[in-house]
Amino acid sequence: MMDVKNATVFITGASRGLGLAFAREARRRGATKVYAGMRNAARFEQAGIVPVRIDVTDTASIAAAAALAADTTLLINNAGIAALIDGPLSVDVATQSARMFDTNYYGVVRVTQAFERILLAKPNAAIINVLSDIVWLPRPYLTPYAASKAAAWSFTNQLRFQLREPGIQVLGLHVGFIDTDLTNGIDVPKASPEDVVRQTYDALAAGKSEVMADQGTALLKSTLAAEVPGYITPPPGL
Ligand SMILES: NC(=O)c1ccc[n+]([C@@H]2O[C@H](COP(=O)([O-])OP(=O)(O)OC[C@H]3O[C@@H](n4cnc5c(N)ncnc54)[C@H](OP(=O)(O)O)[C@@H]3O)[C@@H](O)[C@H]2O)c1
Repeated sequence: MMDVKNATVFITGASRGLGLAFAREARRRGATKVYAGMRNAARFEQAGIVPVRIDVTDTASIAAAAALAADTTLLINNAGIAALIDGPLSVDVATQSARMFDTNYYGVVRVTQAFERILLAKPNAAIINVLSDIVWLPRPYLTPYAASKAAAWSFTNQLRFQLREPGIQVLGLHVGFIDTDLTNGIDVPKASPEDVVRQTYDALAAGKSEVMADQGTALLKSTLAAEVPGYITPPPGL
């Protein structure tokens, strides 16, 4: 289990949205150092937060960021993109899937590989992967995004098992709509990034392996053992 207090945290996609909330809350909780990974670090200025250039689709930038942040003890794979399409059979499903996978799946894989040795060398280290309720929720217009997050969920499960022995905690964050740029123009109830981050850091400190950061996601997960689970027929309200 890991307390963010006294951790050295590296977050991908921390220029805004959930990633920035992770950075701010880490600092508030007394993290030793907070690295905010971002594609454009030139104009970022927040007291106590160190901007680091990283594009999760660019291996060279990942290697450079890992070299610079070699004291990291908590890696947060947060960077992600989404796009709406017509449905699972629309003409752009393959091209959009490739784009989503490059960031949302291979991005997580590449960054985790680059930080592996850094984390293994620490007496107490952890990884948080930002996933979604979409891994269990049919939303045809989010097909490419859902597939990429389901792949990242699968990777998280393999990684958690692999890293159990060396003692690295791996926490998967599942959550529905959050109020960030990613959901601009989608008119539904949304969780606040600050609340999601609070629950995630609390779960990490409690030694958990995953966190359902809103009621809808918790309800969805509770249906998984039912004869008709939520990924076939979502529970009312979802
Ligand atoms: N919002 C939701 O409803 C929701 C729900 C469940 C899960 N999530 C997940 O939460 C995470 C954060 O999303 P958000 O809602 O905060 O979205 P957001 O406000 O759109 O922020 C996305 C962040 O990811 C960064 N990013 C995108 N592609 C990148 C790349 N190739 N390399 C490095 N950084 C990259 C963006 O950087 P730039 O500023 O350079 O574009 C930005 O900092 C994502 O993994 C998303 O899938 C979001």
